[in-house]
Amino acid sequence: MPQLDIDFVRAQFPAFSEPSLHGQAFFENAGGSYTCKPVIDRLTRYYTQRKVQPYAPYEASRLAGEEMDEARMRMAAILGVETDELSFGPSTTQNTYVLAQAFRQWIKPGEAIVVTDQDHEANSGPWRRLAGDGVEVREWKVDPVTGHLDPEKLEELLDEKVRLVCFPHCSNVVGEINPVTEITSIAHAAGAFVCVDGVSYAPHGFPDVGALGPDIYLFSAYKTFGPHQGLMVMRRALGEMLPNQAHHFNADALYKRFTPAGPDHAQVAASAGMADYVDLVCDHHDGPKNGATARSAFVNDLIHEHETRLLQPVLDAVKDRNDLRLLGPSDATRRAPTVALALNREAEPVAAELAEHGIMAGGGDFYALRPLTAMGADLSRGVLRLSFTHYTSQSEIDQLLQALDRVL
Ligand SMILES: Cc1ncc(COP(=O)(O)O)c(C=O)c1O
Repeated sequence: MPQLDIDFVRAQFPAFSEPSLHGQAFFENAGGSYTCKPVIDRLTRYYTQRKVQPYAPYEASRLAGEEMDEARMRMAAILGVETDELSFGPSTTQNTYVLAQAFRQWIKPGEAIVVTDQDHEANSGPWRRLAGDGVEVREWKVDPVTGHLDPEKLEELLDEKVRLVCFPHCSNVVGEINPVTEITSIAHAAGAFVCVDGVSYAPHGFPDVGALGPDIYLFSAYKTFGPHQGLMVMRRALGEMLPNQAHHFNADALYKRFTPAGPDHAQVAASAGMADYVDLVCDHHDGPKNGATARSAFVNDLIHEHETRLLQPVLDAVKDRNDLRLLGPSDATRRAPTVALALNREAEPVAAELAEHGIMAGGGDFYALRPLTAMGADLSRGVLRLSFTHYTSQSEIDQLLQALDRVL
């Protein structure tokens, strides 16, 4: 297995040659990543050459529509699902909101759903509001010390009343990677559907959702090197059963049923740039020639090896300090490189101090009020979050560790 060619990777991101960002090491990637060049190029081309109503017979419009279709087709192939099982919406928050409306119409009073206290609010609040319609909401709770979600605890919550289980592939503050396939099979065995928030996981490798098994899988392209879109996989059996949320005449198109907002044509089209990027990295490292999921899996292995190698020293530097608490596992192989630290003071001013050392990071609750509360973190202080991706270099990690040493 080759190592990730970090110089090649960084050359695909214009931000790294942008003078105004020079010397600034970016550690708020869980908030939103830099955009890769293929996406920017497609966006620019769309806005300059194709910014017309798509799917009409004239040339510019035909190209616009074809590019939108290409994006859906290629991203669906990477995610291991059928093309019409993938849709684009304004954001993951918007997508879960619409999904919750669909479930509201389908689920019966007295039936139940399971939500976690490890989720970002986007995959929690909209579901919990179903309680207002007589749906029983059961909470799968994290371990208050480790933040871990134990699948055995889920089994205790399941019975014939439960219709849906919602959980994150990885929390945006705990960072631990949850075993989606195991959890999904537990939920399916009890007759419940599964909705996974993949927003914090997908930036570290697009998953083969078809192989993982959930009925719904969501993530946000502005964190996966793409434009500001929410991508949603809705497997056919569930999607055709839930009531249509789009215009009545769009009910037959699975990919339109849960995205009532008119699509952002340019951003949907530019999303094909994320697939271009996977292809570029795969080919540069001599990966497999065929099969979108195999090529993506190859890229994921490169990413994973690089990220874990860079992450472990960061975890080692903070895990035993007595002036802070590392949330989530201290073993890099079990988590994403999204590292939240509960400090003995307010986090945001610390982020501001880090900025003086060229570190771009954030402090706050990151809309993860529930997991932070469950783990006893002080919400008024928030947490300092340091998050990176595969384009982060060793020298940026060194810069971070030195800055942390000074500031903490
Ligand atoms: C884990 C997680 N889920 C969901 C969201 C919401 O995504 P969006 O901004 O696309 O609504 C975020 C955003 O930060 C997130 O980190």
